[in-house]
Amino acid sequence: MKFGFFDDAKKEYVINSPKTPYPWINYLGNQGFFSLISNTAGGYCFYKDARLRRITRYRYNNVPLDMGGRYFYINDNGTIWNPGWSPVKTPLDFYECRHGMGYTVITGKKNDLKAEVTFFVPQNYDGEVQQVVLTNESKEAKSFSIFSIAEWCLWDAQDDCTNFQRNFSTGRVEIEGSTIYHVTEYRDRRNHYAFYTVNDTIDGYDTDRDSFLGSIYNGWDNPETVKADKPANSFADGWSPVASHYKKVTLAPGESKTLIYILGYAENPQDKKFAAEKPANLLTRETWVLNKEKAYAMIEKYNTPEKVAAGLEELRNTWNDLLSIFNVNTPDDKVNRMVNIWNQYQCMVTFNLSRSASYFESGIGRGMGFRDSNQDILGFVHQIPERARERLIDIASTQLSDGGCYHQYQPLTKKGNADIGGDFSDDPLWMILSVAAYIKETGDWGILDANVPFDDDPNGKHTMLEHLNVSFYHIVNNLGPHGLPLAMRADWNDCINLSCFSDTPGESFQTYTNPKFAAEGGYSKVAESAFVAALFTYTGPAFVGILEHLRKADEAAKAQAEIDKMKKNVMESAFDGDWFIRAYDANGEKMGSKECEEGKIFIEPQGFAVMSEIGKDVGADIKTLNSIDKYLNCEYGLVLNNPAFTKYYIQYGEISTYPGGYKENAGIFTHNNAWIICAEAYVGRGDKAFEDYSKIAPAFTEETSDIHKTEPYVYGQMIGGKDAKNFGQGKNSWLTGTAAWNMVAISQYILGVQPVFDGLKVDPSIPHEWDGFTAVRKFRGATFNITVKNPEHVCKGVKAMTVDGKAVEGNVIPVCESGTHEVEIVMG
Ligand code: BGC
Ligand code: NOJ
Repeated sequence: MKFGFFDDAKKEYVINSPKTPYPWINYLGNQGFFSLISNTAGGYCFYKDARLRRITRYRYNNVPLDMGGRYFYINDNGTIWNPGWSPVKTPLDFYECRHGMGYTVITGKKNDLKAEVTFFVPQNYDGEVQQVVLTNESKEAKSFSIFSIAEWCLWDAQDDCTNFQRNFSTGRVEIEGSTIYHVTEYRDRRNHYAFYTVNDTIDGYDTDRDSFLGSIYNGWDNPETVKADKPANSFADGWSPVASHYKKVTLAPGESKTLIYILGYAENPQDKKFAAEKPANLLTRETWVLNKEKAYAMIEKYNTPEKVAAGLEELRNTWNDLLSIFNVNTPDDKVNRMVNIWNQYQCMVTFNLSRSASYFESGIGRGMGFRDSNQDILGFVHQIPERARERLIDIASTQLSDGGCYHQYQPLTKKGNADIGGDFSDDPLWMILSVAAYIKETGDWGILDANVPFDDDPNGKHTMLEHLNVSFYHIVNNLGPHGLPLAMRADWNDCINLSCFSDTPGESFQTYTNPKFAAEGGYSKVAESAFVAALFTYTGPAFVGILEHLRKADEAAKAQAEIDKMKKNVMESAFDGDWFIRAYDANGEKMGSKECEEGKIFIEPQGFAVMSEIGKDVGADIKTLNSIDKYLNCEYGLVLNNPAFTKYYIQYGEISTYPGGYKENAGIFTHNNAWIICAEAYVGRGDKAFEDYSKIAPAFTEETSDIHKTEPYVYGQMIGGKDAKNFGQGKNSWLTGTAAWNMVAISQYILGVQPVFDGLKVDPSIPHEWDGFTAVRKFRGATFNITVKNPEHVCKGVKAMTVDGKAVEGNVIPVCESGTHEVEIVMG
């Protein structure tokens, strides 16, 4: 069952029923100011950091779900409704939500009155613009009223939802004309404020939530003021400050009126915090006055429909430019809309927000993840390489000089998060992959010389190359008894906690290590990760390639020797005959082996081992992929492990706490499905790669949205696996490494358009029935129009390539630096 459709020409997903199986959201903003907005206008906004600088309030896990956002209420002679249906939920005569690239348009109609609301955050602007167009579609004049409402968060989202003894008494506002200012804590220790304005005179307002609702026993679905068609004109003093405008409107038949609301954020320098004069119309109970210059300028910027149209146009152009860098036309529409629009869009969102704020991430739990952000760059780097470069330097600066890393950092402070700490065994390796991806995209070898400090030597002079070096050797220097990397606190799978042995409720599997390992440095020196081993052999060659380019032949040879040794160790101790084992636990027992009772096979190490060609000479690659297909494949994707754990294994940790089929215990983790898709494509099984891809790619789930539940335009972290009661049900949509890795899988492995150090490789691994495809790829200053022909209907293999009509040996397009070039590839 579907709840909407893709409008590819407009790059929109159009939702035509407000009752989606879960709120289907969009993100506004891609720089400093961000908003989450659902198809019924639920959600919230924040500036840069969803925890420390939350602007509007939102209650997670609320009943009913998704109550709280920015709402407009219309009182049309006693009929009360919202353009986005919620919160009043009056049945509408028409409803539509269009989620586009950085904007959302929600339209509702009731009794011949139409309200179309466009929400967006303009480029280089710290505010959300909400343009409301009201049209009287009836044959008679209509008089009605419109109320707006936004509830302020008292800045620190964590404190806001816990510290009520204080924050019920701190709320402060100012009102000037049609603008309501939120100034809680401004006088004392903050220099930022928020405002909500409308570009017209108003007929009343409210700034105190309980006065707006009329009773503490009312919800957003039945505010007294709206019912009575009479604002309370309340002035907030503590409790919960809100901002609501009341406006009476009369429209002749066919007439429209546009109101532009702006929800903005601004900061003042310390010496310019206060205004000298108190304007006569200012409502305040303070003796000081907020300096509003910045707000005035922001309001001025979008106070007419023409200015709003120009802002939207600028946003559209930005996205059209971003999406013109890589574009394909394949025989499959769903692939086209994923690659050309939605997957790239999601990559921008994950790049911006890491795993911080979504409808499943509360924005207070996590900052930027070391491994997360490095992987996010893989899917984003071609869009704005300069931002990727900046991010790489920020992330690397939280690394320690021995190659270890802080697992997370706060975006506002850019400092490693000491509460979470480090010792996640995979973290350093992703850094090698992301820096290599950046160089392959841009040819900017200069990044290796960039000055990047270590967290434990903030003033020292260190280069990015040194960071890569310590990352690589952090693995080599931390091997266990079988010569495999120590698992430490966890590897990519946060829920395999081999040094935890937790038997006490409330102990965090993520941060707790058992005191019995204290003498060994905090974690077991026996538990080893075969996944990190495979990631090392997959990633290592990029490091070697970098050293070779720098003509550091000896260092390159030394690193290569470590990779070769690791492959040997894996074959000797971690190949189980038909697949690679997952780990050795702290008791020295195999995990993810035929010998195990449950969890005999895991997905994670396999793809990287196959792509590293470990044991290829004895057929380990194909055997492994066949085992995955046999044991992990099911209707909706590949499960993480099989059989699912049905008991608590204290030696494994969190993974065995989940009911079978969910999350890391045999859920379909779409992130690591991508690694198998890449591996299938790598060995040339294009049909299988595409089968695996099409099970999880969101556009392919659209028809079964009632089962899949989450948005059909973006990936979620997880889909209920075959052992789950809710088999096929998606969760944790939007903020997941899946976005980047599936972008890599489809574009670089299946379609095979892959930046390499010395050019652009084209090595497709496609379904055999495809006649071919075309692609446009902007790369290092040039534009390549690529035509791939598949006359013999093979899955893989490039027989001939021409660039501008001239035959080129192999399948790497050389760097051209400018101009448009025609590339023809014949498979066979
Ligand atoms: C989740 C993981 C997540 C981790 C870190 C775990 O509970 O299952 O997916 O990565 O927490 O927050
Ligand atoms: C989500 C986390 O963000 C990511 O870092 C982790 O690798 C996966 N969960 C798997 O546990």
